[in-house]
Amino acid sequence: MKKILHIDSSVRRTDNSTASYNSISKEFGRYFIASWMNKNHQDTVTYRDLGLNPPEFISQEWIAAAFTPERQRGKEQTLILAQSDLYFEEVAQADVIVITAPMYNYGMPAVLKAWFDQMMRVGKTFTFDLARGDFPIEPVLSGKTLVLLTSSGEFGFGAGGVREHMNHLSPHIKELTKYLGVDQFYEIGSEYQEFADDRHAASVEKAKRNIESLVKQIG
Ligand SMILES: Cc1cc2nc3c(=O)[nH]c(=O)nc-3n(C[C@H](O)[C@H](O)[C@H](O)COP(=O)(O)O)c2cc1C
Repeated sequence: MKKILHIDSSVRRTDNSTASYNSISKEFGRYFIASWMNKNHQDTVTYRDLGLNPPEFISQEWIAAAFTPERQRGKEQTLILAQSDLYFEEVAQADVIVITAPMYNYGMPAVLKAWFDQMMRVGKTFTFDLARGDFPIEPVLSGKTLVLLTSSGEFGFGAGGVREHMNHLSPHIKELTKYLGVDQFYEIGSEYQEFADDRHAASVEKAKRNIESLVKQIG
C-alpha cells in the first residue's frame, strides 16, 4: 500500500462554467490520480491545492526559528514553523509525490516556490556540513518517486525545442526535488495552450496517453 501526495499549484480551478478557463495541469493531476487509484485501490492520497490555499512566505523570524535547535525554540518559533512541519511530514510520509504546475513567467508559480521554501529545512530535508568541502549540503530523505505534470501556453520547452533555454520550470523543480528524497523523476506536460488550436488539443491528448502509460509502468 503506497501513500501518494498530490500537490496542485495553478491558481485556476477545475469547475468553471466555461471549460477553457479550467486548469489543464490540475486536470492532468486528476487524470493521473484516477488512473492510479483504479489500479491500486488500497493506496491513499493526501491532497493540497496551493493555488487556492497558498503557503505563507518565509520571513526573517522563520529563518531564525528554523536554525534554532528544536529543544531551544520558544512557543512563537514553534508556531512559525508549524506550516513547514506539516508540509514536511506530508512529504516524509509519501512514496509518490505528484506535483502539477503551470508555467508562469517561464518558471514555477510563486505558491509552489513558497511551498519549496517552507519545505527545505536544515536537519529535516537536508544536512549541512562543511567537512564535505565545496558541496556541504546533502538530502536526508530518499526512495521517493516524483511525477511532474505541467502545462504551458507557448511551446518548444523540451529537449532540443526552440524555447528549451527559457524553461525554468521543470529543470528548477527537478533540481529541488532531490532534497525531497526523490530518486525517480518523471515529467509529462502539454504545450500550446495560448494558441488554442489543433496543436494544443493534440498536445493535451498526448499528455493523457503518456500519463496512462506511466501509471501502467510505475503504478
Ligand atoms: C501569470 C501567467 C504567466 C504565464 N506565463 C507563461 C510563460 O512564461 N510561458 C508560457 O508558455 N505560458 C505562460 N502562461 C500560460 C500558462 O502556462 C498556461 O495558460 C497554462 O495552461 C496554465 O496552467 P493551468 O491551465 O494549469 O492553469 C502564463 C499564464 C499566466 C496566467
